[in-house]
Amino acid sequence: MQRLKIENLSKTYPAGVRALDDVSLEIPNGMFGLLGPNGAGKSTFMRILATLTPADSGLVIFDGQNIARDTTWLRSRLGYLPQDFGVYPGVSAEHLLDHLAVLKGLTHKSDRREQVAALLQRTNLYQYRRQAVSTFSGGMRQRFGIAQALLGNPQLVIVDEPTAGLDPSERNRFHDLLNEIGEQIVVILSTHIVDDVHDLCPQMAVLAGGRVILEGKPEILTHSLKGQLWRKTVTPAELTELQAAVRVISTRRVAGRIQVHVYEGERPGEGFEAFDPGLEDVYFATLAGMGRKEELTC
Ligand SMILES: Nc1ncnc2c1ncn2[C@@H]1O[C@H](COP(=O)(O)OP(=O)(O)O)[C@@H](O)[C@H]1O
Ligand SMILES: [Mg+2]
Repeated sequence: MQRLKIENLSKTYPAGVRALDDVSLEIPNGMFGLLGPNGAGKSTFMRILATLTPADSGLVIFDGQNIARDTTWLRSRLGYLPQDFGVYPGVSAEHLLDHLAVLKGLTHKSDRREQVAALLQRTNLYQYRRQAVSTFSGGMRQRFGIAQALLGNPQLVIVDEPTAGLDPSERNRFHDLLNEIGEQIVVILSTHIVDDVHDLCPQMAVLAGGRVILEGKPEILTHSLKGQLWRKTVTPAELTELQAAVRVISTRRVAGRIQVHVYEGERPGEGFEAFDPGLEDVYFATLAGMGRKEELTC
């Protein structure tokens, strides 16, 4: 049995937005990627897992416990990095982490100091420990976010779009850090960036419009598209024609021309070449065919 089971989770906000619509997932130890566009319901899903928002219906079971029944139990095992987190201006990284450790229940002073120092080392922030977190760069801030999420040795770590807004080198550094968290705990990473999942996650799901429209192992999902992807460089007028005739899953401008990726069982026409799909093609093909879940699910 998987460690984390999510069964038929639904949530509608008061204004009538159905943010989650019957979401079920089974999540093992290790890094799990939750990929989806803005508005897909990722943050809502994560807030429910963190017991900060109640679901309207459905269940979340972690290590055999219904998390909504005993939120204290879950929170003592949880590390959570919200999508946007504010910090008090002027408070140093070391002080803030120590303060958050107290809130997390780490009451033994020397143990707490040790853990705070170790986490600052691990996130490469030790040399900046006396600097205010409010003055940190985006990448440093997100690494601090991971440090606070790892306080108290959590068994379930939830990180909500942690790489949004990071430049490529900061993102790489952040990936290295996430990669080191380990395979003995459940880590759920939400993102709208395909490379995050590609680089880090042995398991993934795509969430869109509040529903899980795809789930599986990235390499198997990618393999399942083999032989069905075609590309060609076209003019804008040709693109319009193609879009009416075949399943265009993505377009990219290359030196003023447009490279199209098409998802079809057979060569869609003259001048198309087959190519090996990447995870991005899986993602776009899935979004383009929302509702045709069975075609790609493994
Ligand atoms: N507190 C809220 N009140 C009302 N609607 C909300 C609230 N939070 C999110 N939503 C709506 O629910 C949908 C899902 O949002 P969210 O869970 O933030 O998605 P994501 O994190 O994937 O961008 C969106 O349409 C969003 O506008
Ligand atoms: Mg979000």
